[in-house]
Amino acid sequence: MSLKEVLEELKQEAITKISESDSLAQLNEIRIQILGKKGSMTEVLRGMKDLTPEMRPVVGSLANEIRDVLSEHLEGKKAELELKAMNKALAEETIDVTLPGKTIKTGNSHILTQTMQEIEDIFLGLGYKIVEGYEVEQDEYNFERMNLPKDHPARDMQDSFYITEELLLRTHTSPVQARTMEKHDFSQGPLRMISPGKVFRRDNDDATHSHQFHQIEGLVIDEHITMGDLKGTLEVLLKKMFGEERNIRLRPSYFPFTEPSVEVDISCFKCGGKGCNVCKHTGWIEILGAGVVHPRVLEMSGIDSTKYSGFAFGLGPDRVAMLRYGVNDIRYFYQNDVRFLNQFNVKG
Ligand code: DAH
Repeated sequence: MSLKEVLEELKQEAITKISESDSLAQLNEIRIQILGKKGSMTEVLRGMKDLTPEMRPVVGSLANEIRDVLSEHLEGKKAELELKAMNKALAEETIDVTLPGKTIKTGNSHILTQTMQEIEDIFLGLGYKIVEGYEVEQDEYNFERMNLPKDHPARDMQDSFYITEELLLRTHTSPVQARTMEKHDFSQGPLRMISPGKVFRRDNDDATHSHQFHQIEGLVIDEHITMGDLKGTLEVLLKKMFGEERNIRLRPSYFPFTEPSVEVDISCFKCGGKGCNVCKHTGWIEILGAGVVHPRVLEMSGIDSTKYSGFAFGLGPDRVAMLRYGVNDIRYFYQNDVRFLNQFNVKG
């Protein structure tokens, strides 16, 4: 076979190989096999030295021509394979924006926090300010200024954890009344406040008692405040919390810091008043204590009781949440079991 024929055959073989290759790596291999230092084309060209001087330019230009043709084929195939690879990558990496995303689990406020915030929002809407009290409180504010002197029998119901003789974990949020009243400047307008927070009692814990729970204290003081204002305010609160169809009922009661004092009930939101297990078959649910602020309480905090009067109330958000969500044991709120708490993740 002449060198020319060898070259022609080599060309045909190379063209076939190039056209059959299906990856860039393979194509590169082929390029090296043909045009590389030890490639077949190079090999053939090396044999040129054995040719006659007349044949050399002929074979030489043929070889150059073939090399150009093959280079062109290689380039063409390379472009084709690169395009294919790019299209494949584009197809594979397509993002389906309609697929549901991965939800990131977020925590949520404790259900008691949510309940208290809801109540706070209602009172903010009524023009009240929110006041924070002290969890460690003086006997003077917790009891004395609330008209519960040292020997008062009502102190028995509110035994607490004492830090010293005169310092204790507050048993109710009522001391915030005294702390707010003594600072209030009536030239700036009436006093309207609520104070949510933790309170503590030496209670034996059971389904409805916890040594730590929450209260929201409410206090309004101005000229001419009456029981009627109290009733209207509580009606707004309880209807917003338990539904517009609810009725409220005031029953006479006793608290040392209010006179008169009342216990406030709402008509049962489950049975509508007919009687069921939630309302213990009475049709009514006891929800908070309230009353007209005792003149002595006003005077002890430096307020002229002949000019000013007010109402106060104490509400238990734990009890509100238990009633609203059908939680039958107050201790669930304090055990921090996520299986319980996650049920109130309204954000999802
Ligand atoms: N401090 C009372 C308690 O813990 C609740 C209470 C009742 C607060 C009547 C008040 C009120 O402000 O007027 O049992």
